[in-house]
Order: sequence, then C-alpha cells, then structure tokens
Amino acid sequence: MASFISVDDIREPTDFGDREFHGALVNVTNVCNLSCTHCFVFRADNPNRPKDKMDDATMLAQLERLRDKHHIRSMLFMGGEPMIRKDLVMRAMPLFESSSIVTNGTYGIPSVPGHLVTVSLDGPKHLNDPIRGEGVFDRVKKSVFERDPEDGTTVMLQMTLTRQNADGIEEFVEEVKDWPVSGIAFTFYVPYVDDASGLAWDDLRERDAVIDRVIAIKSKYPHRVKTNIGALELMKSDRCLEVTGEHGEHCGLRTGMLPLYMGEGGNFERTFCCYGNNVDCTRCGAYAVFNGAYHRRMGTTEDE
Ligand SMILES: C[S@@+](CC[C@H](N)C(=O)[O-])C[C@H]1O[C@@H](n2cnc3c(N)ncnc32)[C@H](O)[C@@H]1O
Ligand code: SF4
Ligand code: SF4
Repeated sequence: MASFISVDDIREPTDFGDREFHGALVNVTNVCNLSCTHCFVFRADNPNRPKDKMDDATMLAQLERLRDKHHIRSMLFMGGEPMIRKDLVMRAMPLFESSSIVTNGTYGIPSVPGHLVTVSLDGPKHLNDPIRGEGVFDRVKKSVFERDPEDGTTVMLQMTLTRQNADGIEEFVEEVKDWPVSGIAFTFYVPYVDDASGLAWDDLRERDAVIDRVIAIKSKYPHRVKTNIGALELMKSDRCLEVTGEHGEHCGLRTGMLPLYMGEGGNFERTFCCYGNNVDCTRCGAYAVFNGAYHRRMGTTEDE
C-alpha cells in the first residue's frame, strides 16, 4: 500500500543558522553511474554515502523551508548524478527564482526552458573517457544531438581542467564548437589538502600556462567559449590568493552559497564549501570563485 507523508509530519531541516545566502546547491542524491577520476563529491571527508537518502516529499518541503529562512534565490541541482532523480528535480526547480542543473549527460539532457543545464565533458573522447568512463563521450554527444535545440533551455558544455586532460583544450573546442549548445565553459580542478592524485598543478606557474591557452581559445572563439578573460587573469598564480585566501577567507562562493550535501540518515549537511571538506584553497580552480570576484571588482553582474 502506498504511504503518504503529510506536510505536518515533515521533519525540520538541519539548522544552518540565520544567515542569508543568495544561492545554494543541493546534492539530490549521492548515487552516480560514473566514477570520474577527479570527482570532489566522493572524497573520503565528505558526506556521500549512497544509502543516505531523503524522500521526495521531505526534500521538497525542506528546500522550501530553507529557501524562506535563508532567502535563497538560486539553486543548483547536483549530485552524484541529479538526473537519477529527474522527477524530483523537475518538481523542485520552480521553487526558486532561478534554478540550474549540472549533469553528466548520460541520461539525456533535460528540457527546462528558461533555465541553465551544464553538461560535463572533460575533453575529446580519448581524454574524456579515461576520466569519465569508456563510451561516455559518445553517449553524451548522442544526448546533445537528440535534444531539441529550440526548446529554450540554455545548455553549456563544461570541461574541468586537470593535469590529466589539459592538453586537450584546443582539440575539444574544435570538436564541439558546432554542436547544438549555447556555449563551452572551462573550470579548473579543485584539489584536496596534500592532493596526491597527480591531477593538481604543484607549481601554479604551470597552471598559468594552461590559463593562457584558455584565454587564447576564448580570443579565437569569443562567442562559443563563454569563459571571461578578466576572471581567468585573477586565477593566475600572482593573484589567486587575493581572491581565495589560504583557507577560503576571501572566497565569495564560500560566503554566498549554502552547500547542501546529503548526510547521515538522509539529512542535509553543510560542507566547508561547495567543493566539500578538506579542500586546498591555495590551488582552487573553481571558475565561479574568480568570475564572482571579477564582477564584484568591476561592479557588474555575472550575466554581463
Ligand atoms: C560533481 S559533478 C556533479 C554533477 C554531475 N554528476 C556531473 O558530472 O556533471 C559537478 C561538476 O563538478 C566537476 N568536478 C568534479 N570534481 C571536481 C574537482 N575536483 N574540481 C573541480 N571540478 C570538479 C565535474 O566535472 C562536474 O562538471
Ligand atoms: S558524473 Fe559527476 S558526480 Fe558522478 S563521479 Fe563524475 S563528476 Fe562525480
Ligand atoms: S576551495 Fe575554492 S570554492 Fe572552496 S572555499 Fe576554497 S577558494 Fe572557495
């Protein structure tokens, strides 16, 4: 027999204090069908056990309560893989003034007119598949080409740059530049403290050379590559600590966004930042951090 939860029976969300957050992200599930080499979600220090689950009715009600308490205007739906709970995500998106999804694209691209869907691909096939899994590049490409490009959804491809795939920047852009998407975005690896994965740049001056290549490809395809050169300049080794601080003390993403991870017993848990716990802020490559700082300095909004 089906069971129904009445709104009165919904447990209160975890108490995250009284602060306002203009945005939040929510890991709607800790389950993922891929196991990417660079993924911050499944690091040991984070709440990420697949058995920790919150049912749809509770999640919808708790998101609404947290929205009202913290005046959250925008929500980023993430996971794990958020499209594993597509119905829930579709019902939760209208709760917020602005909602977006970041997905691995293997379950198709959701049609959400007026909203942003970021689809992760980490380079051309020969670089993406060793990171995201055999056959994933072709599956994502199929999803992108099967969607209706006129449905009003903004679809961006996002490549996360690490030492494993940075060689492929130019080849990737040449390959995807004519795909039916709104643009191509780049972000850089966020390492953990004492990262031993080999994916991070130990000397940030080596990362500077990669940033210069992203700037060059942006200059070649200014309308297809959406990354902002001013933000990339702030990520350079001589500037980045001003923007992040040694321990995130200057980071606008940390102060402005509430990360809702799925924790113990299926209750929301707040991590140190959107990238989880035990992150190395001195080598943070999160584009959003630098883009936010750039716009605050220029007095502009992130849409400009
Ligand atoms: C954690 S995934 C969750 C959503 C979905 N499963 C996906 O892959 O898009 C969200 C984004 O974070 C990126 N990402 C994963 N680990 C990262 C890391 N250590 N540093 C920076 N970005 C990372 C992924 O490449 C992806 O674009
Ligand atoms: S698909 Fe997304 S959540 Fe899953 S392992 Fe890869 S980056 Fe992490
Ligand atoms: S890792 Fe990056 S996003 Fe997280 S707090 Fe540090 S600087 Fe900010």
